[in-house]
Amino acid sequence: MAFPESFLQELKMRNDITEIVSSYVSLKRRGRNMVGLCPFHGEKTPSFNIYTENGSFYCFGCGVGGDVISFIMKIENLDYVEAVKYLAQRAGMEVPENSYDDSMNRLRTRVFEANREAARFYNSALNSPIGAKGLEYFHGRALSDRTIRRFGLGFADDDWTSLCRHLHSKGFKDSEIVAANLGVKRRNGNGIYDRFTNRVMFPIIDLRGNVIAFGGRIMTNEKPKYLNTSDTPVFKKSANLFSLNNAKNSGSRTLILCEGYMDVISVNQAGFANAVATLGTALTSEQALLMKRYADEVIICYDADEAGQKATARAIPILRSAGLLIKVLTIPNGKDPDEFIRANGDDGPAAFKAVIEKSGNDVEYRLLKLKQNYNIETTEGKVAYLEAASKVVASISSPIERDVYSSKICNELGIDKNAFTQQIVNISKRQNRETAGKQLRKIQTDLSGRNDKINTEHYKKPRSSSAEEALVVYLINNPDSAEEISKSVNPEQFQNSLIRHYFKYFLTRIKSGLEPLTNVTADFTQDEASKLYEMLSQYIKAASTEEAMREYIKVINEESEKLSHEDIESMSADELKTYIDKIRKSKK
Ligand code: CTP
Ligand code: MN
Repeated sequence: MAFPESFLQELKMRNDITEIVSSYVSLKRRGRNMVGLCPFHGEKTPSFNIYTENGSFYCFGCGVGGDVISFIMKIENLDYVEAVKYLAQRAGMEVPENSYDDSMNRLRTRVFEANREAARFYNSALNSPIGAKGLEYFHGRALSDRTIRRFGLGFADDDWTSLCRHLHSKGFKDSEIVAANLGVKRRNGNGIYDRFTNRVMFPIIDLRGNVIAFGGRIMTNEKPKYLNTSDTPVFKKSANLFSLNNAKNSGSRTLILCEGYMDVISVNQAGFANAVATLGTALTSEQALLMKRYADEVIICYDADEAGQKATARAIPILRSAGLLIKVLTIPNGKDPDEFIRANGDDGPAAFKAVIEKSGNDVEYRLLKLKQNYNIETTEGKVAYLEAASKVVASISSPIERDVYSSKICNELGIDKNAFTQQIVNISKRQNRETAGKQLRKIQTDLSGRNDKINTEHYKKPRSSSAEEALVVYLINNPDSAEEISKSVNPEQFQNSLIRHYFKYFLTRIKSGLEPLTNVTADFTQDEASKLYEMLSQYIKAASTEEAMREYIKVINEESEKLSHEDIESMSADELKTYIDKIRKSKK
């Protein structure tokens, strides 16, 4: 149940990894390889490497590695079969049918189809007498018919089974409806009923135009106010954003980040198509990285209430570490963007534009919030504020920016700039010492291998593990050495079970005449594959000569003779004597 090797080989050949990656990441040549900023974690200096010789990538920053298929899986959020199909289509290749297990893929396709059908159903209900209440609700919230159409809004009636019955009539099975979270199993086991009833509906659409989920709002003050699709095979709420499909095409490299569905829709109606919202959870770094693909700057536009301000404070470092520039918009009078736009009537769009243009960057925002905590009329208040403010300023990495803020603060408070600047220099020094200390400790744990989550055994026997890793890399790079290697070392001599597993796998493949790396993405977990590509990128130069190969084999042989402390501890006196005799003999 796998794709034919020859097909995968051609697929990889026709989808050059450098070409594919460079449509997402801007790459620079470094020696024989290409490097860029990793799209899977936020960073300022490039540690994401592309190795053209074996068609792989590896990031030294976050430890993710793989081939062109796993790259597409991760960046496009696809499963294995979908990623292969995607690449095949891109290269104009026919996918061999029935050669792979596509049951998961088929279910995902059915869930997409059920969602699309449900969106149609909810939308036509909104425009029929049944949905009059819903339409009235939306009009009451000042949405135009054009906006309602643009967002494909809908209405779920209070019949409890109308959607399920409709989906049945379209050929959907209970299991598919439940998988889409559009229906829920009855407790008595007797069939299913609608998940959403008596709510106005907001479809959530992904970047390829698929309906992936729904949010439903109750039209009264009852709770819960919003009900959202739980995670399904096609939807993970922490990895998607509402209306990114619209924002992506807005022609702007700035995104307006709101808290709710209605805010995004109002902001759109006011003329800003570049608004997005999280889906009922706090902002995640996955979402920030997703934004970074379409934007350079994010304007946080959360509610003006306390919860909104807390959420703003939490979002700032997440957006910052994704490499985004940040502005914070403060809406007057404690309103959310939707209320603000509506409260200004016909002037709503202009008024909103004005606050957007006034929004300060995140440093200004943090200083402003900080100042509110101190009474700067008193000397103690002033001193305490300056102390706190100098920490904020010291955290800015650009010296020019630091200087600008220092001047601003000192002017505002009428104090001497030199003293303030000295304070900042001291704090920066201390912070640098702290980061240096942290880095040193990290290097130490990394070296001891205790940090290696996937290869947990490495640190116990570093000498043998290193030799084993190097030999596996040598074998992959020199498949014609398989005969010789398997004559002089036996997989059972490998001390490290993960590396032994790789060794056996590649020996078997090579002996069957297969190219070593073609099927790695299907045959290993993401973590195991990452570890493998890490080994490949680290030993790329070291492992190239036959002398080196013989040295690795020698070390593996020697180390496999040695017993660990635990082994020795558990030996009987006789066993121990035999062992010692054996060592003595081998020394003679
Ligand atoms: N939310 C949710 N579940 C709830 C409440 C809120 O998922 N029970 C999410 C929704 O995505 C909502 C967002 O959090 O849009 C913000 O919530 P809130 O500020 O309470 O609502 P508003 O967006 O202001 O909604 P409305 O204007 O319709 O009252
Ligand atoms: Mn609101």
